[in-house]
Amino acid sequence: MNQVARFPLLAPVIGEAVSLTLNQADILKPSSGLSPYWSGSGGLLFADDCMNILPRLRDASVDTVFADPPFNLGKLYGRNTDDDLAEEKYLAWCETWLAECIRVLKPGGSLFLYNLPKWNIPLGAFLSKHLTFRHWIAIEHKSSLPIEGRLYPAHYSLLYYSKGKPKTFSRIRTPILTCRHCDGEIRDYGGHRHAMNPNGVNLMDVWTDIPPVRHGKFKSAKRPANALSTKILDRVVEMTTAPGEIVLDPFGGSGTTFAVAVDKGRRWIGIEIDFADVIVERLTEGAIMPHKNSDFVEERLSGAVKGADGLRRRRAGDPEAGAGSGLRGVAADPRPGPDRSAPGKKRQRRG
Ligand SMILES: C[S@@+](CC[C@H](N)C(=O)[O-])C[C@H]1O[C@@H](n2cnc3c(N)ncnc32)[C@H](O)[C@@H]1O
Repeated sequence: MNQVARFPLLAPVIGEAVSLTLNQADILKPSSGLSPYWSGSGGLLFADDCMNILPRLRDASVDTVFADPPFNLGKLYGRNTDDDLAEEKYLAWCETWLAECIRVLKPGGSLFLYNLPKWNIPLGAFLSKHLTFRHWIAIEHKSSLPIEGRLYPAHYSLLYYSKGKPKTFSRIRTPILTCRHCDGEIRDYGGHRHAMNPNGVNLMDVWTDIPPVRHGKFKSAKRPANALSTKILDRVVEMTTAPGEIVLDPFGGSGTTFAVAVDKGRRWIGIEIDFADVIVERLTEGAIMPHKNSDFVEERLSGAVKGADGLRRRRAGDPEAGAGSGLRGVAADPRPGPDRSAPGKKRQRRG
Protein backbone atom coordinates (compact mmCIF):
# COMPACT_ATOMS: atom_id res chain seq x y z
CA MET A 1 0.00 0.00 0.00
CA ASN A 2 2.87 2.29 0.81
CA GLN A 3 4.86 1.61 -2.29
CA VAL A 4 4.44 4.17 -5.03
CA ALA A 5 7.39 3.75 -7.37
CA ARG A 6 11.01 2.86 -7.48
CA PHE A 7 13.43 5.73 -7.30
CA PRO A 8 14.92 6.12 -10.75
CA LEU A 9 18.46 7.45 -10.61
CA LEU A 10 17.79 10.40 -12.85
CA ALA A 11 18.60 14.04 -12.50
CA PRO A 12 15.29 15.45 -11.32
CA VAL A 13 13.71 18.47 -12.95
CA ILE A 14 12.55 20.86 -10.25
CA GLY A 15 11.78 24.37 -11.44
CA GLU A 16 15.03 25.92 -12.54
CA ALA A 17 17.79 23.72 -13.89
CA VAL A 18 19.90 22.25 -11.09
CA SER A 19 23.35 21.02 -11.95
CA LEU A 20 23.68 17.66 -10.29
CA THR A 21 27.40 17.42 -10.14
CA LEU A 22 29.40 17.67 -6.97
CA ASN A 23 32.84 19.04 -7.54
CA GLN A 24 35.32 17.21 -5.30
CA ALA A 25 37.49 20.31 -5.01
CA ASP A 26 34.58 22.18 -3.42
CA ILE A 27 34.17 19.51 -0.78
CA LEU A 28 37.54 17.97 -0.03
CA LYS A 29 40.45 19.79 1.57
CA PRO A 30 43.26 20.31 -0.99
CA SER A 31 45.58 17.85 0.74
CA SER A 32 42.95 15.20 1.42
CA GLY A 33 44.32 12.61 -1.02
CA LEU A 34 40.87 11.06 -1.09
CA SER A 35 38.97 9.65 -3.97
CA PRO A 36 35.40 8.52 -3.65
CA TYR A 37 34.34 4.90 -3.97
CA TRP A 38 31.59 6.06 -6.32
CA SER A 39 30.39 9.35 -7.70
CA GLY A 40 27.36 10.26 -9.76
CA SER A 41 23.92 11.88 -9.64
CA GLY A 42 25.22 14.80 -7.65
CA GLY A 43 26.85 12.64 -5.02
CA LEU A 44 30.14 11.32 -3.70
CA LEU A 45 30.18 8.06 -1.76
CA PHE A 46 33.15 7.08 0.42
CA ALA A 47 33.66 3.50 1.55
CA ASP A 48 35.45 4.11 4.82
CA ASP A 49 35.23 4.93 8.48
CA CYS A 50 33.57 8.33 8.74
CA MET A 51 36.41 9.43 11.01
CA ASN A 52 38.81 8.93 8.11
CA ILE A 53 36.67 11.04 5.80
CA LEU A 54 35.00 13.79 7.82
CA PRO A 55 38.25 15.49 8.91
CA ARG A 56 39.18 15.79 5.22
CA LEU A 57 36.06 17.68 4.23
CA ARG A 58 36.27 21.44 3.97
CA ASP A 59 34.91 23.70 6.69
CA ALA A 60 31.40 25.03 6.08
CA SER A 61 30.79 22.97 2.93
CA VAL A 62 27.53 21.16 3.72
CA ASP A 63 23.95 22.42 4.07
CA THR A 64 22.38 19.60 6.09
CA VAL A 65 23.80 16.67 8.03
CA PHE A 66 21.64 13.64 8.75
CA ALA A 67 23.20 11.03 11.03
CA ASP A 68 21.71 7.66 11.95
CA PRO A 69 24.62 5.93 13.69
CA PRO A 70 24.60 2.47 15.26
CA PHE A 71 22.74 2.72 18.59
CA ASN A 72 25.21 0.63 20.63
CA LEU A 73 22.67 -2.11 21.16
CA GLY A 74 25.05 -4.95 20.47
CA LYS A 75 23.71 -5.46 16.97
CA LEU A 76 25.62 -7.19 14.27
CA TYR A 77 26.45 -4.79 11.46
CA GLY A 78 29.35 -5.35 9.09
CA ARG A 79 32.73 -6.55 10.28
CA ASN A 80 34.08 -3.05 10.95
CA THR A 81 31.41 -1.93 13.39
CA ASP A 82 31.57 -2.63 17.12
CA ASP A 83 28.07 -1.92 18.39
CA ASP A 84 28.78 -2.96 21.95
CA LEU A 85 30.96 -0.25 23.45
CA ALA A 86 31.15 0.92 27.04
CA GLU A 87 28.73 3.82 27.45
CA GLU A 88 31.43 6.48 27.92
CA LYS A 89 33.30 5.16 24.90
CA TYR A 90 30.20 5.24 22.70
CA LEU A 91 29.38 8.82 23.73
CA ALA A 92 32.99 9.95 23.22
CA TRP A 93 32.99 8.38 19.76
CA CYS A 94 29.73 10.13 18.86
CA GLU A 95 31.06 13.46 20.06
CA THR A 96 34.17 13.04 17.88
CA TRP A 97 32.26 12.63 14.64
CA LEU A 98 29.60 15.12 15.66
CA ALA A 99 32.31 17.74 16.17
CA GLU A 100 33.44 17.14 12.59
CA CYS A 101 29.87 17.35 11.32
CA ILE A 102 29.47 20.68 13.10
CA ARG A 103 32.67 21.96 11.52
CA VAL A 104 31.65 21.05 7.97
CA LEU A 105 28.18 22.56 8.36
CA LYS A 106 27.63 25.93 6.69
CA PRO A 107 26.37 28.82 8.82
CA GLY A 108 22.59 28.43 8.95
CA GLY A 109 22.88 24.72 8.04
CA SER A 110 20.95 22.00 9.86
CA LEU A 111 22.00 18.87 11.70
CA PHE A 112 19.77 15.91 12.50
CA LEU A 113 20.72 13.12 14.87
CA TYR A 114 18.53 10.00 14.98
CA ASN A 115 19.07 7.85 18.03
CA LEU A 116 17.58 6.37 21.19
CA PRO A 117 16.32 8.95 23.70
CA LYS A 118 18.91 7.52 26.12
CA TRP A 119 21.77 8.65 23.87
CA ASN A 120 20.21 11.80 22.48
CA ILE A 121 19.92 13.34 25.93
CA PRO A 122 23.71 13.50 26.52
CA LEU A 123 24.44 14.05 22.82
CA GLY A 124 21.89 16.87 22.73
CA ALA A 125 23.69 18.47 25.68
CA PHE A 126 26.90 18.28 23.63
CA LEU A 127 25.27 19.70 20.50
CA SER A 128 23.67 22.54 22.44
CA LYS A 129 27.15 23.85 23.26
CA HIS A 130 27.86 24.38 19.58
CA LEU A 131 24.57 24.68 17.71
CA THR A 132 21.10 26.11 18.15
CA PHE A 133 18.46 23.69 19.34
CA ARG A 134 15.39 23.53 17.09
CA HIS A 135 13.42 20.40 17.97
CA TRP A 136 13.33 17.01 19.63
CA ILE A 137 11.19 15.13 17.14
CA ALA A 138 9.61 11.97 18.53
CA ILE A 139 9.21 9.34 15.83
CA GLU A 140 6.73 6.71 16.88
CA HIS A 141 8.12 3.22 16.59
CA LYS A 142 6.52 0.32 18.40
CA SER A 143 8.52 -2.75 17.63
CA SER A 144 10.04 -3.82 20.89
CA LEU A 145 8.76 -6.17 23.55
CA PRO A 146 7.56 -4.77 26.85
CA ILE A 147 10.41 -4.44 29.35
CA GLU A 148 9.84 -5.46 32.97
CA GLY A 149 9.60 -2.44 35.26
CA ARG A 150 9.75 0.10 32.43
CA LEU A 151 7.35 1.99 30.23
CA TYR A 152 6.85 0.56 26.78
CA PRO A 153 9.40 2.33 24.54
CA ALA A 154 7.47 3.71 21.58
CA HIS A 155 9.59 6.39 19.97
CA TYR A 156 13.01 7.23 18.63
CA SER A 157 14.44 10.70 18.96
CA LEU A 158 15.36 12.86 16.00
CA LEU A 159 17.30 15.88 17.24
CA TYR A 160 17.20 18.90 14.97
CA TYR A 161 19.79 21.67 15.39
CA SER A 162 20.90 24.56 13.23
CA LYS A 163 24.18 26.43 13.04
CA GLY A 164 22.88 29.80 14.15
CA LYS A 165 19.72 31.07 12.52
CA PRO A 166 18.50 28.49 9.98
CA LYS A 167 19.06 29.64 6.43
CA THR A 168 16.41 27.33 4.97
CA PHE A 169 13.19 26.26 6.58
CA SER A 170 10.30 25.18 4.42
CA ARG A 171 7.00 24.63 6.14
CA ILE A 172 5.53 21.17 5.73
CA ARG A 173 1.85 20.41 6.07
CA THR A 174 0.41 16.97 6.73
CA PRO A 175 -3.07 15.81 5.73
CA ILE A 176 -6.01 16.40 8.03
CA LEU A 177 -6.61 13.05 9.68
CA THR A 178 -9.66 11.03 8.79
CA CYS A 179 -11.11 7.82 10.15
CA ARG A 180 -9.98 4.73 8.28
CA HIS A 181 -13.46 3.21 8.58
CA CYS A 182 -15.92 6.05 7.93
CA ASP A 183 -13.58 8.54 6.25
CA GLY A 184 -14.87 11.31 8.53
CA GLU A 185 -12.43 13.78 10.00
CA ILE A 186 -11.18 12.71 13.41
CA ARG A 187 -10.79 16.12 15.08
CA ASP A 188 -12.89 19.27 15.03
CA TYR A 189 -9.94 21.58 15.72
CA GLY A 190 -11.79 23.42 18.46
CA GLY A 191 -14.53 24.51 16.07
CA HIS A 192 -12.04 26.25 13.78
CA ARG A 193 -12.02 23.62 11.05
CA HIS A 194 -13.41 26.09 8.50
CA ALA A 195 -10.39 28.34 9.00
CA MET A 196 -7.86 25.57 8.50
CA ASN A 197 -5.40 25.63 5.64
CA PRO A 198 -6.76 23.22 3.00
CA ASN A 199 -3.23 21.94 2.41
CA GLY A 200 -3.16 20.39 5.85
CA VAL A 201 -1.89 21.03 9.33
CA ASN A 202 1.59 22.16 10.34
CA LEU A 203 3.96 19.26 10.70
CA MET A 204 4.26 18.51 14.41
CA ASP A 205 7.28 17.42 16.38
CA VAL A 206 5.64 14.05 17.02
CA TRP A 207 5.63 11.89 13.90
CA THR A 208 3.19 9.01 14.17
CA ASP A 209 2.98 8.41 10.44
CA ILE A 210 6.37 6.89 9.66
CA PRO A 211 6.01 3.34 8.38
CA PRO A 212 8.51 0.77 9.61
CA VAL A 213 10.81 -0.64 6.97
CA ARG A 214 9.83 -4.22 7.48
CA HIS A 215 8.64 -5.62 4.21
CA GLY A 216 11.34 -7.26 2.11
CA LYS A 217 10.62 -5.11 -0.92
CA PHE A 218 11.84 -2.03 0.98
CA LYS A 219 15.10 -3.66 2.09
CA SER A 220 18.31 -4.91 0.63
CA ALA A 221 18.67 -8.69 0.83
CA LYS A 222 22.39 -8.14 1.46
CA ARG A 223 21.79 -5.67 4.26
CA PRO A 224 18.34 -6.36 5.68
CA ALA A 225 18.42 -4.39 8.96
CA ASN A 226 18.10 -0.74 9.89
CA ALA A 227 16.95 0.99 6.76
CA LEU A 228 14.91 4.07 7.54
CA SER A 229 11.70 5.07 5.83
CA THR A 230 12.24 7.50 2.98
CA LYS A 231 9.48 9.58 4.58
CA ILE A 232 11.82 10.71 7.36
CA LEU A 233 14.40 11.82 4.82
CA ASP A 234 11.73 13.45 2.64
CA ARG A 235 10.96 15.75 5.55
CA VAL A 236 14.55 16.41 6.57
CA VAL A 237 15.58 17.25 3.02
CA GLU A 238 12.52 19.30 2.07
CA MET A 239 12.44 21.24 5.33
CA THR A 240 16.07 22.28 5.47
CA THR A 241 17.54 22.35 1.96
CA ALA A 242 16.86 23.99 -1.38
CA PRO A 243 17.39 22.18 -4.68
CA GLY A 244 21.07 21.79 -5.47
CA GLU A 245 22.17 22.06 -1.83
CA ILE A 246 24.31 19.40 -0.17
CA VAL A 247 23.23 16.73 2.30
CA LEU A 248 25.84 14.73 4.22
CA ASP A 249 25.12 11.34 5.80
CA PRO A 250 28.15 9.79 7.54
CA PHE A 251 26.36 6.46 8.20
CA GLY A 252 24.98 5.60 4.78
CA GLY A 253 23.60 2.15 5.62
CA SER A 254 21.53 1.07 2.68
CA GLY A 255 21.49 4.49 1.01
CA THR A 256 18.08 5.90 1.96
CA THR A 257 19.39 9.46 2.39
CA PHE A 258 21.11 9.45 -0.98
CA ALA A 259 18.12 8.08 -2.89
CA VAL A 260 15.93 10.81 -1.42
CA ALA A 261 18.55 13.49 -2.15
CA VAL A 262 18.72 12.38 -5.78
CA ASP A 263 14.96 12.26 -6.08
CA LYS A 264 14.66 15.79 -4.78
CA GLY A 265 17.48 17.32 -6.80
CA ARG A 266 19.88 17.77 -3.90
CA ARG A 267 23.54 16.91 -3.96
CA TRP A 268 24.98 14.57 -1.35
CA ILE A 269 28.04 13.19 0.39
CA GLY A 270 27.82 9.67 1.76
CA ILE A 271 30.08 7.59 3.95
CA GLU A 272 29.58 3.91 4.78
CA ILE A 273 32.14 1.66 6.38
CA ASP A 274 30.88 -1.75 5.29
CA PHE A 275 28.08 -1.56 2.75
CA ALA A 276 29.08 1.01 0.14
CA ASP A 277 28.77 -1.66 -2.55
CA VAL A 278 25.19 -2.31 -1.50
CA ILE A 279 24.42 1.42 -1.67
CA VAL A 280 25.80 1.72 -5.20
CA GLU A 281 23.94 -1.38 -6.30
CA ARG A 282 20.67 -0.10 -4.86
CA LEU A 283 21.07 3.41 -6.23
CA THR A 284 22.01 2.35 -9.70
CA GLU A 285 19.28 -0.28 -9.88
CA GLY A 286 16.69 2.15 -8.49
CA ALA A 287 15.97 -0.46 -5.82
CA ILE A 288 15.24 1.87 -2.91
CA MET A 289 11.48 1.98 -2.56
CA PRO A 290 9.94 5.20 -1.34
CA HIS A 291 7.09 5.10 1.13
CA LYS A 292 3.99 7.00 0.17
CA ASN A 293 4.11 10.57 1.38
CA SER A 294 1.21 13.02 1.19
CA ASP A 295 2.99 15.97 2.79
CA PHE A 296 2.62 19.42 1.31
CA VAL A 297 5.79 21.45 1.18
CA GLU A 298 5.67 25.20 1.09
CA GLU A 299 8.96 26.32 -0.35
CA ARG A 300 9.67 29.56 1.40
CA LEU A 301 12.72 30.44 -0.64
CA SER A 302 11.03 30.40 -4.03
CA GLY A 303 7.50 31.05 -2.87
CA ALA A 304 6.52 27.85 -4.66
CA VAL A 305 4.29 25.25 -3.11
CA LYS A 306 4.31 21.65 -4.11
CA GLY A 307 3.42 18.21 -2.86
CA ALA A 308 6.33 16.10 -1.65
CA ASP A 309 5.21 13.30 -3.91
CA GLY A 310 4.74 15.63 -6.84
CA LEU A 311 8.00 14.84 -8.60
CA ARG A 312 7.55 11.12 -8.45
CA ARG A 313 3.94 11.39 -9.53
CA ARG A 314 4.74 13.74 -12.40
CA ARG A 315 7.38 11.30 -13.58
CA ALA A 316 4.75 8.61 -13.51
CA GLY A 317 2.60 10.80 -15.77
CA ASP A 318 0.02 11.79 -13.15
CA PRO A 319 -1.62 15.00 -14.45
CA GLU A 320 -2.95 15.81 -10.98
CA ALA A 321 0.52 15.88 -9.47
CA GLY A 322 1.15 19.58 -10.09
CA ALA A 323 4.05 21.08 -11.97
CA GLY A 324 7.06 23.01 -10.82
CA SER A 325 5.96 26.00 -8.84
CA GLY A 326 2.19 25.51 -8.77
CA LEU A 327 0.13 23.52 -6.36
CA ARG A 328 -2.35 20.98 -7.59
CA GLY A 329 -4.13 18.81 -5.09
CA VAL A 330 -2.37 15.88 -3.53
CA ALA A 331 -4.81 13.48 -1.97
CA ALA A 332 -4.42 13.02 1.72
CA ASP A 333 -3.54 9.56 2.87
CA PRO A 334 -5.61 9.11 6.00
CA ARG A 335 -4.75 5.51 6.58
CA PRO A 336 -2.30 4.70 9.32
CA GLY A 337 0.70 2.56 8.39
CA PRO A 338 0.76 -1.21 8.64
CA ASP A 339 0.66 -2.99 11.98
CA ARG A 340 3.63 -1.87 14.02
CA SER A 341 3.15 -4.13 16.98
CA ALA A 342 5.14 -7.17 15.90
CA PRO A 343 7.87 -7.95 18.43
CA GLY A 344 11.43 -7.16 17.41
CA LYS A 345 14.40 -9.43 17.73
CA LYS A 346 16.25 -9.21 21.03
CA ARG A 347 14.01 -6.35 22.11
CA GLN A 348 15.94 -4.15 19.80
CA ARG A 349 14.12 -1.22 18.42
CA ARG A 350 15.79 -0.93 15.07
CA GLY A 351 15.04 -2.23 11.67
C1 LIG B 1 21.82 2.49 11.50
S1 LIG B 1 22.68 2.19 10.05
C2 LIG B 1 22.18 3.50 8.96
C3 LIG B 1 20.96 3.15 8.15
C4 LIG B 1 20.58 4.20 7.14
N1 LIG B 1 20.10 5.41 7.77
C5 LIG B 1 19.56 3.66 6.15
O1 LIG B 1 18.41 4.18 6.11
O2 LIG B 1 19.85 2.70 5.46
C6 LIG B 1 24.28 2.63 10.50
C7 LIG B 1 25.31 2.34 9.43
O3 LIG B 1 26.54 2.96 9.80
C8 LIG B 1 27.60 2.16 9.35
N2 LIG B 1 28.77 2.52 10.18
C9 LIG B 1 29.06 2.10 11.42
N3 LIG B 1 30.18 2.68 11.86
C10 LIG B 1 30.60 3.50 10.86
C11 LIG B 1 31.71 4.38 10.72
N4 LIG B 1 32.60 4.53 11.70
N5 LIG B 1 31.83 5.08 9.58
C12 LIG B 1 30.92 4.93 8.58
N6 LIG B 1 29.87 4.10 8.64
C13 LIG B 1 29.70 3.40 9.78
C14 LIG B 1 27.12 0.75 9.54
O4 LIG B 1 27.79 -0.15 8.67
C15 LIG B 1 25.64 0.89 9.23
O5 LIG B 1 25.38 0.52 7.88
